[in-house]
Amino acid sequence: MDPLRFVEVGPRDGLQNERAVVPAERKAAFVDALSKSGLREIEAGAFVSPEAVPQMADSDEVFARLNRQPGVLYSALVPNMRGLERALAAKAGKIAVFTAASETFNRKNIRASIAESIERFRPVIRETKAAGLPLRAYVSTAFFCPYEGRISPAQVLPVVESLLGLGIDEISIGDTIGRASPQDVRALLRALGATVEPEKIFLHFHDTYGMAIANALTAWREFAITGFDASSGGLGGCPYAPGASGNVAMEDLVYAFAAEGGETGIDLNRLTEAAKSLEPVLKRPLASRLSKVNLDGGNND
Ligand code: HMG
Ligand code: MG
Repeated sequence: MDPLRFVEVGPRDGLQNERAVVPAERKAAFVDALSKSGLREIEAGAFVSPEAVPQMADSDEVFARLNRQPGVLYSALVPNMRGLERALAAKAGKIAVFTAASETFNRKNIRASIAESIERFRPVIRETKAAGLPLRAYVSTAFFCPYEGRISPAQVLPVVESLLGLGIDEISIGDTIGRASPQDVRALLRALGATVEPEKIFLHFHDTYGMAIANALTAWREFAITGFDASSGGLGGCPYAPGASGNVAMEDLVYAFAAEGGETGIDLNRLTEAAKSLEPVLKRPLASRLSKVNLDGGNND
């Protein structure tokens, strides 16, 4: 079986929607702790408008403070050329652009239609390739939109195909409001499977309805998808998706895959401790199940 590929998005997707102000120094320490848990890729920040997402305004400083580990890719979310310039100056190792399958969500999130956003990516893609960096694209609201309701696979497919046609290396399919269930995942992956190789697909589940782990295991078992995004601690939500809870917790997802015989390469103790280090700053308990378990204690048998 192909190895699992986990992308940790807690420092970006998680912290962008936490109420507490987390200083750059703490964010960098969080990323550094994550980088010692066996994770190979960490989205360490977003170079978006500071007015749109104040929590990410200090991503330049976070990147500058990183104690980079060999073999770990530190990626960055970028909406436009200004964001790319900042990401390149910060020495991000991979660039992620983002659009959506729902017009209303996209307009609220990045003030552009889907077609306009894809046009905006063209120079970003060209310059990222010129810099020799890999590229990911997110397609948000791929199952449900907080404004438009259910989104059909027929709405997602053309967006994915245009992005791949522009030379994007991988697509992260977002269940932005955490509402998809395994039958929705099957329907979308069946539709994508006709034209998109499974290696190019990552799934990005938020966990509002508690279905994210069932969704991920379904995608892995039935469609050979090996790429999954998650946030350690289950941090965050989405500022433009009212009511959405955080990403599925990385430690809970890794635990589920390991229990099902998957090769994860991740040290669960280190991963869980990394997220727990934020509890005093967030001033609330983490959402993840494993953060409430004593992993060294006797209750794991
Ligand atoms: P706009 O207002 O149309 O952009 O916003 P603009 O080009 O007119 O610029 C407005 C101002 O922002 C200007 O400043 C720019 O300089 C500044 P002013 O001249 O007025 O002082 N600006 C920037 N500053 C720093 N870095 C930049 C940048 N760009 C513009 N890169 C824009 C359009 C896309 C920029 C804005 O709406 C934006 O940044 N949106 C980001 C929204 C966001 O980050 N959302 C959360 C991430 S997406 C997500 O979480 C979903 C995901 O997890 C997957 C899933 O769950 O589905 C990925
Ligand atoms: Mg997200």
